Amino acid sequence: MCLLLLLLLLLLLLCLSFGRVPSIGERVAESSRTPNRSCGPPSKEARAVSFSSHPGVPMSQPHPSSNAVSPEELRVVSEELRAAPAEVVLAWAERRFGTRAAIASSFGVEDMVLIDLARQHAPSLRLFTLDTGRLPQETYEVMDVVRRRYGVEIETFFPERERLEELESTKGYFSFKQSIEERKACCGIRKLEPLRRALAGREAWVTGLRREQSITRTEVEVVERDDGQGGILKLNPLARWSSREVWEYVKERGVPYNALHDRGYPSIGCAPCTRAVKPYESERAGRWWWESPDSRECGLHVHR
Ligand code: ADX
Ligand code: SF4
Repeated sequence: MCLLLLLLLLLLLLCLSFGRVPSIGERVAESSRTPNRSCGPPSKEARAVSFSSHPGVPMSQPHPSSNAVSPEELRVVSEELRAAPAEVVLAWAERRFGTRAAIASSFGVEDMVLIDLARQHAPSLRLFTLDTGRLPQETYEVMDVVRRRYGVEIETFFPERERLEELESTKGYFSFKQSIEERKACCGIRKLEPLRRALAGREAWVTGLRREQSITRTEVEVVERDDGQGGILKLNPLARWSSREVWEYVKERGVPYNALHDRGYPSIGCAPCTRAVKPYESERAGRWWWESPDSRECGLHVHR
């Protein structure tokens, strides 16, 4: 009888332990071991590992938070990476920042090289774009190809609705043609403010800037401190690349690119502010072509 009672008690205990609800701590631990197979949009945490979300690629864990780059580290790293290959720069960003760094992409050919390289050497880096609302159709098309081919999420930042509504309501749809000030006001609303939001909480950003692109970019360094963005690090892994090297990489690896490049557009921004260039014209001659070459920057990048 006693034995039977003991057995019944044991059975009851077993049932209770199988049926019990796991604690929050246990659920978090479990979810970090289990790959996310749920349907629907990815959570903010899943979005943080954008380059790793491709099927078959291991999900990387969010990197532990660390201190921002000190002046001494900046000096040492700038020196070490000054002449380093782009993949070495990206691999360093992966180790040093992981998801706390982001690639800014307009999906021009340089950015396509960066995306392809990051896929291999810096899979945790986030990828974002500033959708100004005036981008050419071809840019959305290549963005769509990137999403599918690389399996990455492109974090999209739009201009602030109220500011844009006011701009268009009061100044019309082509105010940027009226003066440099009006043009910069438009870039401010459509690009700079969204960039600030895109970089909030980031410790570094990566761009496709190259020195050769224009007289405003001859001093671009591979590693820079970006005072315009609160002193975070700015990495320009392709700073020393020529246009020929960019295209060689793209052709060799079969990297997709914006169809406008084959129609005479070496540099692509917003549709109304970009035109094709003649063979003898410089790379950025088609950007804000009605302005003088030394003012043709929208404010995302300030070097001189
Ligand atoms: S721009 O300042 O004149 O527009 P450009 O088109 O040459 O710049 O691009 C230089 C780099 O700036 C790109 O490689 C990319 O890193 C970043 N960039 C430019 N436009 C955007 C955008 N719309 N969204 C995100 N990044 C951008
Ligand atoms: Fe406005 Fe032209 Fe600047 Fe785009 S590139 S934000 S349309 S001024």
